[in-house]
Amino acid sequence: MAASAHATSTTDDDADYVAYYNDCMQNPNAFWDQQARQRLQWRQLYDKVADHNLAEGQIRWFTNGKLNVAENCIDRHVESGRGDATALIYEADEPGTTQHITYKELQEQVNRLANVLLQQGVKQGDRVCLYLPMTPYAVYAMLACARIGAIHTLVFAGFSEDALAARISDGDCRVLITADESVRGGKKIPLRQIANDALAQIPGQVRAVLVQERTGKTPPQAYDIKLYEAMAAASPVAESATVDAEDGLFLLYTSGSTGAPKGLLHTSGGYLLYAGYTHEHFFDYKPGDIYACLADVGWITGHTYVVYGPLVNGATTVIFESVPTYPDASRYWEMVERLRINQLYTAPTALRLLMKQGDDFVQKHDRSSLRVLGSVGEPINPEVWRWFHDVVGNKQCRIADTWWQTETGGIMMCPSPLASKEGHKPGAAMHPAVGVVPLLLGTDGQEIKGNDVEGLLCLRDPTPGMARTVFGNHKRFCETYWSHFPGYYFTGDGAKRDSEGHYHITGRVDDVINVSGHRLGTAEVESSLLLHKGVAESAVVGYPHDVKGEGICAYVILRADFEPTGNTAKELKEVVRHHIGAFASPDRVQLVKDLPKTRSGKIMRRILRKIASNQLNELGDLSTLAEPKVVDEIIEGHKEFL
Ligand code: WT7
Repeated sequence: MAASAHATSTTDDDADYVAYYNDCMQNPNAFWDQQARQRLQWRQLYDKVADHNLAEGQIRWFTNGKLNVAENCIDRHVESGRGDATALIYEADEPGTTQHITYKELQEQVNRLANVLLQQGVKQGDRVCLYLPMTPYAVYAMLACARIGAIHTLVFAGFSEDALAARISDGDCRVLITADESVRGGKKIPLRQIANDALAQIPGQVRAVLVQERTGKTPPQAYDIKLYEAMAAASPVAESATVDAEDGLFLLYTSGSTGAPKGLLHTSGGYLLYAGYTHEHFFDYKPGDIYACLADVGWITGHTYVVYGPLVNGATTVIFESVPTYPDASRYWEMVERLRINQLYTAPTALRLLMKQGDDFVQKHDRSSLRVLGSVGEPINPEVWRWFHDVVGNKQCRIADTWWQTETGGIMMCPSPLASKEGHKPGAAMHPAVGVVPLLLGTDGQEIKGNDVEGLLCLRDPTPGMARTVFGNHKRFCETYWSHFPGYYFTGDGAKRDSEGHYHITGRVDDVINVSGHRLGTAEVESSLLLHKGVAESAVVGYPHDVKGEGICAYVILRADFEPTGNTAKELKEVVRHHIGAFASPDRVQLVKDLPKTRSGKIMRRILRKIASNQLNELGDLSTLAEPKVVDEIIEGHKEFL
């Protein structure tokens, strides 16, 4: 392979970069082999780079390779003399409260917590649930699990008791690590109380609850183990388990069109490699940079680009506990100035919110340290892209609009480092990463070739960071991702390939909605609504929302024997809040007499989506409806939201 010395950095010579990329694409396995040797410390080298069997949804990278993820993320850096370098910068919710944690300190804390887990009987392969605020303890807990070979499963601290209980029980977790309260934007959320309500639903499931005293305000339960005390009493030295490249590192639940959220299993070798490679490559990470991904560790972005990618690269990574508007809309930019941040990675929903507050909040702070600005989670509107580029980045920064998914573990498409020279395309993910071969398929499964075309986005070859299975349900993994179009991974997204061959993601083609970058299945919201005694049936759709990207509109048929009150809509929103979390609560509830259905009884969501989006001239063909007049009634009711 040519140009192998600098595996990821852009050479000054653009032609070289293009040749290098093309060369890597000729033989991705050789590329990953070389990367895996360079980037990871193996206890035993693998004997095969890749060994897949796509017909069975089986993906394997670096077979029989042995390593330890915590050793790669911590000890290696300490041993090479970088123990005093800052690993984490904890930017607490309280403005002005910042803590620097070195690699040496990270090592000690992770070891202490690893020992606490061992004392609690956690064994290699066991699942440990983490329901934690965004503080260094979340990182300690993740890496402590990795240290002993346990599988962590983080539940975003905005999920409700029902969602937490479902995840603990599906993952069969015996140990839970939580906090008394979390604090975001000055608001406290009683995590311990919510966890308690969750545990009451699954008696006997969890044998130990470790509690971080984030605020120290909630008295512990009788059986709680106080995390700070237990860690202080534990040894700062711990052994690292030897794990197989294909052993589980974490489970993370994500929503699909149907059924309960799926626990995707990510494994140790390939995932860590992909996290490190993409972090360095797409964010142009250089040693000494201060890198800030502002996502929460409860989502995949936090796993890969707050924790594993930066730490495997020995970077300094910011742990941001707050929200973009606290104490005011200059929080991000004040932090950029104070910490001299070089890369900032956030979500369009935050940018839309900040853009509305005006440019002064941005301009009063020095942002000259910034080099790369990243966006993730949903399509970025071109006007927001321009604001990010022109105002925030002062036209000096590359915009990394990264398309990927919980399932892919890391970035799959992003404008290449050359994009700024070729001409940026606002809102386009543009180029596939090395080893990623996107295909556009028609609903008939035929590939749509050439440029200036649109279709269902599939990926031909598995990449090292992809999820390996749905925990406890491999059949579901195969059915969801690998059997729609045999041999290809189906993303659930649609995409366009423009006249120059660049990709533009057009959004989900299934019943998944994206609310402030949070992924939700419409069926999940519908089944929550059914928990209200008055609900007979409902249909939930997304509609364009100027801050959240998509808002949630619920069309609800009440039971004949239920008499609605002025409070009914509010109660319905509350049911969803309890069952899933506040972010899933519908923005609109419209009570309807009937839903548009085909003669065979299938709800025509397409029509509801158009009505909710106020695109009343684009309702399309209504002739297949059993009762076309239903549509008029719904349009009439929709007026209350205009
Ligand atoms: C879905 C995945 C990737 C981590 C955060 C979300 C949408 C994601 C982009 C982007 C347009 C995007 C897709 C995808 N999405 N990034 N840059 N442009 N759409 O992970 O919760 O698994 O959601 O988010 O629809 O399928 P996730």
